Amino acid sequence: MDATTQLATTQLIDRDRRYLVHPLHHPDDHRQPLVVVEGKGAMLYDAGGSGYIDGLSGLWNVNVGHGRGELADVAAAQMRRIAFASAYIGATNEPAVRLAEKIVGHAYANSAAVYFTTAGAESNESAFKFARYYWKVKDRPAKTKIISRIHAYHGVTMAAMSATGMAAYQKMFGPMVPGFVQVQPPYAYRWQGNAEPGLGAAEAVEQAILAEGADTVAAVIAEPVMGAGGVIVPPPSYFPALREICDRHDILLIADEVITGFGRTGRWFALGHWGVEPDLVSFAKGVTSGYLPLGGVIASKRVHEAIEEAPADRKFMHAATYSGHPVCCAVGLRNVAIIEEEGLVERAAIIGKRLLAGCEELRDLSAVGDVRGLGMMCGIELVADKGTKAPALGLGPKITREAMALGLLPRMRAGSADPAIGDTICLAPPLMTPTEIIDRIPEILRAAIKAATA
Ligand SMILES: Cc1ncc(COP(=O)(O)O)c(C=O)c1O
Repeated sequence: MDATTQLATTQLIDRDRRYLVHPLHHPDDHRQPLVVVEGKGAMLYDAGGSGYIDGLSGLWNVNVGHGRGELADVAAAQMRRIAFASAYIGATNEPAVRLAEKIVGHAYANSAAVYFTTAGAESNESAFKFARYYWKVKDRPAKTKIISRIHAYHGVTMAAMSATGMAAYQKMFGPMVPGFVQVQPPYAYRWQGNAEPGLGAAEAVEQAILAEGADTVAAVIAEPVMGAGGVIVPPPSYFPALREICDRHDILLIADEVITGFGRTGRWFALGHWGVEPDLVSFAKGVTSGYLPLGGVIASKRVHEAIEEAPADRKFMHAATYSGHPVCCAVGLRNVAIIEEEGLVERAAIIGKRLLAGCEELRDLSAVGDVRGLGMMCGIELVADKGTKAPALGLGPKITREAMALGLLPRMRAGSADPAIGDTICLAPPLMTPTEIIDRIPEILRAAIKAATA
């Protein structure tokens, strides 16, 4: 790095400290911020010119990889033609219509129509309102509660935070929105009940429904694979059992596919792994691979029909200025075309297995308690003691530092967010990551874990 660049970076960080409030902000965690200036494929480069494998695709979102000039070209062309056009009722625009049709085509057999948002939390807020709306149209207005799972991450706006199952995100922002109930997730590694974890965790949902009264519950929300909670992959029994329970009690199933959508798990949308169709899907992140902010809700046929057939005095009065934003949707459309043309969904299934197999080899290390994954999502849970599964508190940040020095940027499920379960290394590289880079990830992690535990 030359002196001018160094000075510029120092000044930048100084001004950052003065003017910017970061997500999850605390000054102690911001002593040496990473200043990313460029990305190419699966690699990121910092202001000093050091390269890092992007082990989490940005924040689980850059599915097609960095530096895709054609997405910039599509955005620029759309901005020149018409940058903003309202999609409020009575108006529409072509990119929004075409992207909605495309998404429905790739989603579930029962998927019918899309409402666009600009982020994951807003998608979940919207999904909760779709669920409440549905039951009001069906003349069951008391069905309003939402059941979610401990360790879930659904975003941090008020209702999404209330569904999120990590106390650290709630501690300084209470009280929570009333009517949100949390139950045990299908976390096989730490499951303590008598039943098989998939069926036991589904039964935990049913117990909550019975305790609250099915007449008061609108929906259950679940990430197909829990991401920020530590890449918790459910046993195959879980979602079929959960779907059956929801059907039996007249409760909608919301799949939070903000991470798992758009190919991440080796399918366009993830519940197909277990032959299950949700009533509502929230998505974001991979729809544009993060090139512009976009999210949405996919409504199933029955939910869409409820909206289409409602009388005028019960119309769907949900809205956002940027719903169906033409530039974001144009970028989404091209991003989906890249995923199709390059076979990235199929690729995620194949190289995801390779990544998982490489990470499985880390099990011989004393700090590695569990290794799990599906498609291009992989979690390596760290423990202080393999026998007792006691969490390895504080080890995650040390491993992150060592891994970064060796050229890999992973992300931790932080034990500081939940000391009972500790740190998990989360991996979700871009779906286009070359195999040589995939193979480097476990090698770097082995060296980083050894150095951090030496
Ligand atoms: C499963 C899931 N849902 C919702 C969100 C919230 O998305 P956003 O940060 O775009 O609001 C996230 C973010 O990581 C997520 O992983």
